[in-house]
Amino acid sequence: MAERRTGRSAHIIGWGKYVPAKVVTNDDLARSVETSDEWIVSRTGIRERRIVSSPKETTATMSIAAAKEALEIAGITPGEIDLVIVATLTPDYSIPATACLVQDALGAENAGAFDLSAGCSGFVYGLAMGAQAIASGAQNCVLVIGAETLSRIVNWHDRDTCILFGDGAGAVVLRGSDEPGGVLSTLIRSDGSGGDLLIVPAGGCRQPATLDTVAMGLHYVRMNGKEVYRFATRVMDKAARQVVADAGLTMDDIDLYIPHQANMRIIQAAARSLGLPMDKFFVNLDKYGNTSAASIPVALCEAAAAERIRPGDHVVMVGFGAGLTWAAAVVQWGVPRPPVPAWRRTLDGLRYIAAGIRSQGRRLQRRVAAWLFGSPIPPTIDDGGGDPAV
Ligand code: UT7
Repeated sequence: MAERRTGRSAHIIGWGKYVPAKVVTNDDLARSVETSDEWIVSRTGIRERRIVSSPKETTATMSIAAAKEALEIAGITPGEIDLVIVATLTPDYSIPATACLVQDALGAENAGAFDLSAGCSGFVYGLAMGAQAIASGAQNCVLVIGAETLSRIVNWHDRDTCILFGDGAGAVVLRGSDEPGGVLSTLIRSDGSGGDLLIVPAGGCRQPATLDTVAMGLHYVRMNGKEVYRFATRVMDKAARQVVADAGLTMDDIDLYIPHQANMRIIQAAARSLGLPMDKFFVNLDKYGNTSAASIPVALCEAAAAERIRPGDHVVMVGFGAGLTWAAAVVQWGVPRPPVPAWRRTLDGLRYIAAGIRSQGRRLQRRVAAWLFGSPIPPTIDDGGGDPAV
């Protein structure tokens, strides 16, 4: 049983990402809407994005793939996870939570699980919640995921939005430690008066999905790009300064900024107002577009793989988006993980197969009990069969 004490630091001990294989370039989009590679690159910096290509690929399956990678690097078993948080605005279902599908597929039998809806700031919100749960002593090990299947809520005939978004997932494992470091400070904020600036109008309880809402395209994401742009440039530098000061650091102590990957011009504006060179910012939006809650953890994984983050480095993450919401965190990176031996991968694979069998067994048990005792049987969820990566 893991030790539970208050005031412990939350260290990132594992990280993983998943992006779908299918690449959609700006030229591909220019064949279906009136746009051009030149316009998209000059206004956003985006060159291509990844989107799911099979109905079996969803926010849950991408989350599971990213989480498996993160657990492998962390060198822990799913049974050690106390809490699964999935930050997303594109859950597989309204109910149940996508986090529960992830918990089940991983066989994280000792974990609670919930989804977190904070738009593109969701992952940093999740990091804040995870770190606070660890500091409170309530949890010791938290899996925080940011994942989106935005291609399913984008109107591919609306050039204002379809050029921006992509799909993907990123995950980190947070674990409590008496060593200083890890998540040093966090900030979460909201201004709900701007809720209508980035919205999916129908499908919730205010306007349930009907034939009419679908005919009017109200199930697609709508955005006032200019206003969101203004808001982003207003909050990004302020949030970064605040969170750095709260960590007892100065801007000079920060080794790398990982901003939400929405628009290169927004990142450049933040760099200008912070008085920092662009090489202090990690940018990968040219390859993936805006993947909302997935953008920061996917960028974090790529920054770690490219050795842009080294042990002891201070990293600032800043997110902003629908809500309106914004959030920031300062993290001190831990020690590098030893390489994962092949036997460990095999063992993990067997563990996930066993988790799948256990889950099917429980479903069967419920159906048999329902048949024997005559209670109504809800239709079984087809979760797409788990990991899209295998
Ligand atoms: O994750 C958080 C969510 N969202 C964001 O961060 C988005 C923030 N906003 C933005 O990134 C930018 O506002 C956009 C990239 C969405 C738009 O850039 P902009 O410089 O604000 O362009 P605009 O909306 O002012 O449009 C300029 C022109 C317009 O034509 P007119 O009226 O000047 O003739 C648009 O109709 O560009 C036109 N336009 C396009 N042209 C070619 C709009 N979209 C496109 C397009 N291709 N895809």
